[in-house]
Amino acid sequence: MSEMNRAWVLDHYPDGMPTADCWRMEERARPAPGDGQVLARSIYLSVDPYMRGRISKAANYAAGVQIGEVMHGGAVAEIAESRHPDWKPGDLIETMGFGWREWAVLDPATEGPNGLRRVDPALGPIHAYLSYLGMPGITAWIALERIGALQAGETVLVSAASGAVGQVVGQIAKDAGCRAVAVASSPEKLAWCREIGFDAGVDYRAEADRLEDAIREACPDGIDVFFDNTAGPIHDAAMKNLAQNARIVICGMVANAGTFDQPDMGERHLRRILVARARMEGFLIFDHMARWDDARRALAAMAADGRLKFKTDVLDGIEHMPQAFINLLTGQNFGKQLVQVSEDPAA
Ligand SMILES: NC(=O)c1ccc[n+]([C@@H]2O[C@H](COP(=O)([O-])OP(=O)(O)OC[C@H]3O[C@@H](n4cnc5c(N)ncnc54)[C@H](OP(=O)(O)O)[C@@H]3O)[C@@H](O)[C@H]2O)c1
Repeated sequence: MSEMNRAWVLDHYPDGMPTADCWRMEERARPAPGDGQVLARSIYLSVDPYMRGRISKAANYAAGVQIGEVMHGGAVAEIAESRHPDWKPGDLIETMGFGWREWAVLDPATEGPNGLRRVDPALGPIHAYLSYLGMPGITAWIALERIGALQAGETVLVSAASGAVGQVVGQIAKDAGCRAVAVASSPEKLAWCREIGFDAGVDYRAEADRLEDAIREACPDGIDVFFDNTAGPIHDAAMKNLAQNARIVICGMVANAGTFDQPDMGERHLRRILVARARMEGFLIFDHMARWDDARRALAAMAADGRLKFKTDVLDGIEHMPQAFINLLTGQNFGKQLVQVSEDPAA
């Protein structure tokens, strides 16, 4: 890693699906921490679908990145210099407030998602703090606890099932005695879902012309819990297969990445919600920071006794950040998408 600080800044907002030229790399001087601050070097940068919303001019739940600003993002990082009594060089941290850059000055007084959380290498690979022990896994755990309310024997359908959130949803559902059904884009991804315990799968690309029927065949008793990571055609087909008293977790809308700034479509499924007496609820992990540690402990316990397996997709080098993000939005990732920026001291 250079002594300089390579950083990706937003060059312009995308028009539809983001392209690599939406960002440009700038080389800056390595910053120095002020009083009460720390300097950290990134080891793994996280690549997440929510970042699409941060580079949109449209209103979203969090402030967007301005043109010329460093792209927003999380990281697992190592403290290199500290001017804060609670942190020392060599400490490993996870934060959602790092940015797409090699070095960042961070303020340990920051609260919420952009605060600093300690990484314990004993719990798993340190990059797991960006996946099953971090935001995606914790999203799966808390959303299922609050909205899914799983009962043994129920059918749980998960879109983007081979991804960071989806893999964890499926395995928590199995752990609760449910039948887990995956929706993903290829036989390879569905084979992985089977390997980690999903009972059945639907290839939404191969079945594009008969998605509603394919989901019905995979969920013959209907869907009790629909964990929706994508919106789009998968959502429409799933909504036509709800069981009585179904719960629908609206977690993400990655299928809309290319149409993000267009107006929302109409509410097309109200009748199905009524007939099935279903409950649909939007979920945002940032509202649940108080449960973060409990969820992580539960997920770490599942991983420790072999009930949670996980696939990660790591690209090497900060120069790959835009491509890694585009891969994620187009399903070219297989597992949690990360970019390794510098040496992992725990590997
Ligand atoms: N609400 C919250 O608090 C919260 C927190 C974390 C994540 N999320 C959301 O959860 C979802 C999953 O996030 P993640 O981090 O786990 O990402 P991920 O699933 O690891 O990666 C994204 C996946 O989306 C699928 N995809 C891409 N375009 C698609 C399309 N047009 N139709 C259907 N599937 C498509 C791809 O899988 P295939 O190859 O199978 O298509 C891709 O691998 C995202 O929508 C994200 O925004 C929400």
